[in-house]
Amino acid sequence: MSRSFNTLLVTGGCGFIGVNFIRYVLKQSGYTGRIVNLDSLTYAGYPGSLDDVATEMGDRYVFERADIREPIQIAEVLDRHGVDAICHFAAESHVDRSIVAPDDFVQTNIVGTYNLLQAARDRRERIQILHHVSTDEVFGSLGETGYFTEDTPYSPRSPYSASKAASDHLVRAFHETYGFPVTISNCSNNYGPYQFPEKLVPLMILNALEGKPLPVYGDGRNVRDWLHVRDHATAVWTIMTRAETGATYCVGGRSELRNLDVVKRICRLVDEQAPALPSGQPRESLITFVKDRPGHDHRYAIDCSRLEAELGWHPEESADTGFGKTVAWYLSNFEWVEAVRTGAYRTWIERNYAARG
Ligand code: NAD
Ligand code: TYD
Repeated sequence: MSRSFNTLLVTGGCGFIGVNFIRYVLKQSGYTGRIVNLDSLTYAGYPGSLDDVATEMGDRYVFERADIREPIQIAEVLDRHGVDAICHFAAESHVDRSIVAPDDFVQTNIVGTYNLLQAARDRRERIQILHHVSTDEVFGSLGETGYFTEDTPYSPRSPYSASKAASDHLVRAFHETYGFPVTISNCSNNYGPYQFPEKLVPLMILNALEGKPLPVYGDGRNVRDWLHVRDHATAVWTIMTRAETGATYCVGGRSELRNLDVVKRICRLVDEQAPALPSGQPRESLITFVKDRPGHDHRYAIDCSRLEAELGWHPEESADTGFGKTVAWYLSNFEWVEAVRTGAYRTWIERNYAARG
């Protein structure tokens, strides 16, 4: 199976993974078509992350500020650009926010995905594939042993993971009921360049750099499987161009770590790569155990052997290589970090990208 298309719509392409995916597809995958990036620019979306790509790619890259909660906006973008494939990243993505305010998660992740599916189905004669990007959190929480696979039953436990599970079910239902061509991936925790500093890895890097407390939830023994975002981008591209219609794949980095070990590792890397703190203390001394997240899933771990065996994908980075490169990226991309950390990027967005009425 090999799919090729000319105009790929990427939803949520101004967020962390979308930015890295667009960079990979346009610059390294061999794809010669266009990308239309549809993003509503919530707090997590920063089109400036793709400024250089926009300049370099000319009309092969187009940005459209639009909202998947609005069916008319989706239809207009699909038709104006003659979109023939879709990769769907747009979502509210942060578990802690979903605990405090679940409403946007239901509206964007469930209703928004439904709107996108309907609009795509209305253009079935043109659209070859819709790839839906999901998370391993839909499978719930593991004990000390075992792995999630494509056959693990769904058991979401946070408003975020419940909303992603609902969207996965809708995507599968459109395939089973209407024969609409979809593929799905469920991946583990991503890290790498351009991630907003509300998530564990960038938050710890920037706090460590500034000598601020490093808040570890509970006892820090929760385990996540860490996947470098470039490896995620190659997996999504492999699946959407080569997998059978209707297929689901689990994507993981084969890099399980306890949160406390992730934070200690980051502390050591920041100590090595950045000037010492004025106090001379090692950054590990900034670790502060704080109240646990309600319903905190204990362990996520992915067995990605189906994707490896069937499509020949493998993660290239491990925790030993990927975390060091990520720390180096945050230390050397001062302008991006400052725009995001200070919130200056919001003023820039409102000046340059008016929302649709
Ligand atoms: P992110 O929060 O960094 O980016 C989300 C993007 O979607 C932002 O640019 C935002 O502006 C946009 N968006 C939000 N609501 C929108 C709407 N209503 N209409 C249009 N655009 C909207 O998220 P991310 O970390 O890049 O995650 C991308 C996808 O990958 C999500 O679907 C997420 O569930 C999934 N995922 C993420 C991880 C991870 O570790 N980050 C792991 C597994 C799966
Ligand atoms: P996060 O990056 O929010 O991803 P997710 O909740 O989707 O796994 O968190 C990763 C892990 O780190 C999770 O177990 C919660 C924990 N965590 C902390 O201990 N402290 C923090 O400040 C944050 C943001 C997360």
